Amino acid sequence: MEGNHLDSRCLDGITCRRIGKVVNFHGEVSSTNKVAREMAEGGCIDGMVIVAESQSSGRGRLDRSWVSPAGGLYLSVVLRPDVPVGKTLPLPLIFSLSVSKVISVSALVESSVKWPNDVLISGKKVCGILVESSVKGEELEYIIVGIGINVNNDLSDLDEETRTRSTTLKQEKGETIDTRELLRDLLYLLDLHYDRFLEGGTLSMLDEWSERSSTIGKKVRVVGVRGELEGKALGVDQNGSLMLNTGSRISAVSEGDCYHLD
Ligand code: BTN
Repeated sequence: MEGNHLDSRCLDGITCRRIGKVVNFHGEVSSTNKVAREMAEGGCIDGMVIVAESQSSGRGRLDRSWVSPAGGLYLSVVLRPDVPVGKTLPLPLIFSLSVSKVISVSALVESSVKWPNDVLISGKKVCGILVESSVKGEELEYIIVGIGINVNNDLSDLDEETRTRSTTLKQEKGETIDTRELLRDLLYLLDLHYDRFLEGGTLSMLDEWSERSSTIGKKVRVVGVRGELEGKALGVDQNGSLMLNTGSRISAVSEGDCYHLD
């Protein structure tokens, strides 16, 4: 989109500690997560970012595809935190918090976070996050955090089922969004939140996540690889697992698709 071309000038005016210090801009790639993995395998630095204007084979959670036409924002971040693998579990929630906050501040649209790591506007999905890790033995090698935001893209490009539960920032705001500004503000906040995470600030960010959550307090069904569970969402624990009151017990659920039932 003319005027919304993503290049290094998007970074003018921000200083990043890690995320955003080095950013590779692309036109179309297959998947920014795939490119990020190649960079990670090649030994790139902590915080390296890959941005693309469209993806030909964008990937979503649970082996789904992520339709990625021009007008959306697609980026992946390579992280190499020097922490035990278990400590990184809340990162997807932390980054969905970053996206939700940036949408409020830059696009002036209210959004909520949905467990585990979606961002919704008026109950419809505007952003999805795909986290992939590489672990050797007990050691974390790297994490790739892929973020896809529906910004100015056309919902008619999405398949019918996805379209009915998705929205775009443009649609919600009623005007074209400056994707360059959105990217700059997002990198700034991702970097800030990653720094807070490394400094031991996970719990306070999970509190902020909970305040913005549209899942907590709702009756939900979580469908995961180990089956499904229904109950009232009470909150998240220090790992980002969802605490469910099933009526007979309190269970912590660490993965799955979450459906809001009320
Ligand atoms: C989801 O299923 O909700 C997660 C979608 C994640 C999409 C993003 S777009 C940038 C990055 N590259 C990919 O191929 N996927 C992620």
